[in-house]
Amino acid sequence: MGLSFFTLFPMNRYFHGKDINYTYAEINLKTLRKNLAIIRREAGQAGSGEKMKICAVIKSNGYGHGMNEIGAAFSEFGSEYLGTADYRESLILHDYLKKNAKGKMARILCLGILTEEKKFFDEVVNKGIEASLSDVGIAGMLNQYAKSVNKKATVQIQIDTGMNRIGFSLRDAYEAVEAISRMSHLRVKGIFSHYATSEIPGSAYALRQLREFRELVKSLESNVMKFELRHIANTGGILNFRDPYFNMVRPGISLYGYYPDRKKIVRDIGLKPAMTLRSRVNFIRHVPAKTSISYGRLHVTGKPTRIASIPVGYGDGYSKLLTNKSKVMINGRLYKTVGAVCMDWVMADIGNSPAVNVNDEVILFGEDYPAYRISEITGSIVYEVICNVSSRVQRVYTY
Ligand SMILES: Cc1ncc(COP(=O)(O)O)c(C=O)c1O
Repeated sequence: MGLSFFTLFPMNRYFHGKDINYTYAEINLKTLRKNLAIIRREAGQAGSGEKMKICAVIKSNGYGHGMNEIGAAFSEFGSEYLGTADYRESLILHDYLKKNAKGKMARILCLGILTEEKKFFDEVVNKGIEASLSDVGIAGMLNQYAKSVNKKATVQIQIDTGMNRIGFSLRDAYEAVEAISRMSHLRVKGIFSHYATSEIPGSAYALRQLREFRELVKSLESNVMKFELRHIANTGGILNFRDPYFNMVRPGISLYGYYPDRKKIVRDIGLKPAMTLRSRVNFIRHVPAKTSISYGRLHVTGKPTRIASIPVGYGDGYSKLLTNKSKVMINGRLYKTVGAVCMDWVMADIGNSPAVNVNDEVILFGEDYPAYRISEITGSIVYEVICNVSSRVQRVYTY
């Protein structure tokens, strides 16, 4: 495969030279490709043997993996759509793909909201970014704009079946779609909804969302218009609520190698984390007993030991909440971090074993030490851990 547009590095774990910082996120594109293939298999076929399309969700900088690079990768790997959070993201992605995508470029579906300011109308119409509609008034404005430039805007209709976030409510949806169907310069390509509890197998709430959405779409298809794309499933939906009436799925977290909620997994389908956050031991200090480490003196050594300083901190997305609680992997062994996590540093107690030396590689999380460990400590979700890897952390793409 020819991913020449990426900065590709050999699979040698130890990146030397000035090009790569001590702390960097290695993104393994081969793993992303395998995860996509696993999700394709899991999603199955749509009814009537139609191919199930995939909208790879790459919002929030591709869940921290680098939106442009992985957008191009998923496009090359055959994802039919890429799902973004907002229009600015969509434009940046669009322009990047235009220049760099290999083969057929995936379409972009913006899952966010178009507003009255008409801020992104021109781009939606002229760059072919598919807009999600949640409001008839805005749909009318977009229609007028498209008419004024003698073009059509491609849109998908978003229905709120239970998130109570954005989208037409079930009560208003039928009439809204009827109204939109009469707008001559909108090309309605799809209709979609989003689950609130799909990570819970058998969730009654998710089943109700699925049933009500299916009934609505069926009734609209019989009486108002046909939709080329019908979709509701995120990762949890793909794993727990497969329904061949729908013909596209929108996986996010699974593509990056994680399950939405590890405690609720009923089946391991072989996903692997694609990102490994790596750093190096930059400094080692021998300290006696009763020595305090880091700000606030939140850890005091119990006996003489060695403290390894690692140049990663909350400025990189390694949360302050991990203070005195996390572990890091050095040469395949886990060591406790000690003292407050700083903006640029975390310290690990490596004891007196000679197994750790300056320059040794440190894994903060990744394939060998999944990010669930971090989210369990911080009381968050794995999504946040990977999204939080900050902009100063270099992304290094390997294949
Ligand atoms: C509308 C929409 N669809 C799909 C997804 C992907 O969800 P997941 O990462 O759980 O697969 C998201 C992410 O939150 C979303 O907001």
